[in-house]
Amino acid sequence: MGFITSEALAETGYVVLDDHDQASDPAEWLDLTYIPWRSSGVTRFAPLASYAGEIECNGFWNQTPPRSDKDGVWVESQVAIAPTLQRRALESGAGVGRCRVIELQPNEYADAVYNLHQDDNNRLNEEGTGWVVRGYYNLSDDTDSLLLLRSDRFDPATEIRLPLRQGSRIIVDTQRFWHAVWHRGTAPRFALITSWTSGPELDAYIAANHGDPHPPTVDLDPRLVDDAQVELHRRIEERRRVFEAQGIVMEPRADLSV
Ligand SMILES: [Fe+2]
Repeated sequence: MGFITSEALAETGYVVLDDHDQASDPAEWLDLTYIPWRSSGVTRFAPLASYAGEIECNGFWNQTPPRSDKDGVWVESQVAIAPTLQRRALESGAGVGRCRVIELQPNEYADAVYNLHQDDNNRLNEEGTGWVVRGYYNLSDDTDSLLLLRSDRFDPATEIRLPLRQGSRIIVDTQRFWHAVWHRGTAPRFALITSWTSGPELDAYIAANHGDPHPPTVDLDPRLVDDAQVELHRRIEERRRVFEAQGIVMEPRADLSV
């Protein structure tokens, strides 16, 4: 039977929408409550919608009783502070699962390559219903920072690099792509991340905002890329040895979120 997927994401798996006029919105994210959460790089998260409306970030399938990452419950104390961000999560008309603001500290390209991961968006999701994808809306102005997307974790030739200027809006099937952010700023990067359920509402929203499945990708110095590949394999091997010494079998790195 399969899942209901977004026609707009069928070709490449991601789209870039028209920029949002972020500078005209209040900087609500600066007043939210942030909590530590295991993720790609040095991060904290401010949940706006969660499994039960609490300030926590766990996947809905990892709670009691478990369910798929749909029907997120708004965190009252947070949306009272950030009604504009809540409105932006709702404006697609698609169902919202987890919704949160991420705070990411600056890192290096090699860190981002090591942090590449696939999200576990669709665990317990039932065929015949909508596939869960994510929206990344940049709140801070990180023009030099890049969202990296790879269809093959170990092949930099598959890497797409999308700039994260203020107001940039990217919708990605983050279970399909290995992804992470290279944040080149000096201050933290803030972005609104929303899990949306694919369907006609999301397609209409992407069309209305001119979703582009072929946005320009940023070129990098090939030496930087080559060095990061070497470092990636060095870190993986180092990590494997640490785990081996502890008698732990390494598990795939799942459900990390940029
Ligand atoms: Fe992620």
